[in-house]
Parts: sequence; C-alpha cells; structure tokens
Amino acid sequence: MTDPRHFVDIDDLTAEELHTVLTRATDLKERERRGKHHPLLSGQTLGMVFEKPSTRTRVSFETGMTQLGGYAVFLGPDDIHLGHGEPVKDTARALSRYVDLLMARVFDHADVQELAEYATVPVVNGLTDDAHPCQTLADLLTIREQFGDFETPRVVWVGDGNNVAQSLVLGAAMVDLDLTVATPPEYDIDDAVLDRAAELGTPPETTTDPRAATEGADIVYTDVWVSMGEEDERAAKLERFQRGGFRVDADLLGPDTRVMHCLPAHRGEEITDEVMESDRALVWDQAENRLHAQKGLLTWLD
Ligand code: CP
Ligand code: NVA
Repeated sequence: MTDPRHFVDIDDLTAEELHTVLTRATDLKERERRGKHHPLLSGQTLGMVFEKPSTRTRVSFETGMTQLGGYAVFLGPDDIHLGHGEPVKDTARALSRYVDLLMARVFDHADVQELAEYATVPVVNGLTDDAHPCQTLADLLTIREQFGDFETPRVVWVGDGNNVAQSLVLGAAMVDLDLTVATPPEYDIDDAVLDRAAELGTPPETTTDPRAATEGADIVYTDVWVSMGEEDERAAKLERFQRGGFRVDADLLGPDTRVMHCLPAHRGEEITDEVMESDRALVWDQAENRLHAQKGLLTWLD
C-alpha cells in the first residue's frame, strides 16, 4: 500500500498540483451551479477533529462531503479522547481504521503533522496556530476568479503575521502572486516561512508601514488581530495594531481596491463595518470558495 498524500501545509502540493486542485474546484463549482450530481466520494467518510471552534471550516467540509455523496463525522473537543489523555498517534491509527479521510483543526501544528505521520488515510489541516492551507486554496480561487489570473493583481496583507498570512505567503510564492505583507515588527511572518517562500518562488515584500504598502493595491487582505488561543495577549495586541495604523478602513483603500478577510471578522478592530458592508468586500466569495476548493482537494487526495 502506498502512503497517502496529506495536506498539512500548502506546499505539500507541488505548484502544478496546486493549479490542478484549483481547476478541479472551479469545475466542481460549475457542476454544483448547474445542479449536476457529482457523487465522486460516494460512500466515503471524512472524520473531522476540532480542538477550536469553527463556522466555515466545519460546515464547508460537512456540506462538501454530502454533495460528493459521502458523509462527515464531527469530532469536537469533548467528543473524543484526544486532548483528554489519548495520544495523537493512537487517535490517528484508530480513526484511520474507520474513516477514508481525516481533517483536523488543532492548536499545535506538530499535532497535525503527527496525525499525518501515523494516519493511513489522507490528513487535511483545517487550521493550526501556524497555518491555514485550506483558506489559501479558497483565497487563490477567489483571486483567480476576480482577476482571471495570478499575474495581474497586487495583493497586500495588512495586520498580524498569523496562520492565514503564513499559508498565503507560501501559496503566493507557488503561483507567482505579487504579495506584500505589512505587519508590526513584533508580529511578522516567521523567518522559516519566508525562507521557504524563497525556495518555492518569489517571497513577499515585507514592511511595517501599512499606508505605504497599500498604495496602489488591487486587494487588501486582513484577519483578526487576536487569533484563537491568543486571548491572553488581547489587550497588548489591540493596542499595538491600533497604534500602528493596521485597521483596514476606507482611508487605507484606493477607489478600486478590493478587500479580503478569511472571517470571522471583528468589526471595529482590524476592519470597519463600512468596509465589510461595501461592494469592495470579497469575503462572502472567499467563504463560499472554501466549499469548492476543499471539494477539489478531497477528490484529488482520495
Ligand atoms: N475562515 C475560517 O476558517 O473560518 P472558521 O473559523 O469559521 O472555520
Ligand atoms: N487567524 C484566525 C483565523 C480564523 C479562521 C485564528 O486562528 O483564529
């Protein structure tokens, strides 16, 4: 038996495979729109392990499996023994005997790596403290839909150099997307991620000046300043990001600049209500594209 392919980080795919998954996603989105039945994972079960809350990830994976003719089983933090004494590697081996695919949202990135090491079915990262590669798939799909390619738009990340940003940095390098990352120096992208981006393609420009960075941007992308698990740092982070001018408001945007956010958004913190409710916001397309991108991924991994 060959080892399964996993999707723990976006660069677990080659650039060519990434394009293939995105094309599959577009195809499945079309089929869905035309009401065409596509039971490509008929009778298959996805196990979904969640240590953190989720709206989009849970519902898009579960709905995606239903649309593909399969089934998803939700395993929340109090439903299974993981986190209550059973080791990650035992969870991986036991669940592999029941399900055909596994998805996990956990705190420690090493835990999803360990799941992948011991599972005998494909493991998909549904977000860790360090990475959110499924979000990057949906984001790249959204950008390609808006601009037709990855060469045209200039994308600027504004805010925390967090899990969503780090996966975007790698994904952008893989598809040659022009990306600039503006963060406070204390909350920048990990050097290891920037080094990896340089191996994969062109690394992003990095800066600590959100105003200069967003000059002429086609897309400004932001995310919460305080990620799940960082609640103790809330006061310090809010003060730092506010002081640095990292809030995405109308003033930071040119007349045609579009705005992305992986959601959930904290209006009044990293983004204003006005921007969220404006026609600039691509956020609902991004949220929808989680469904299509993950269906592309799951059918490719299977
Ligand atoms: N963007 C995202 O992953 O959303 P959820 O936390 O709601 O899954
Ligand atoms: N950076 C956020 C993303 C949520 C989808 C977090 O980790 O909480």
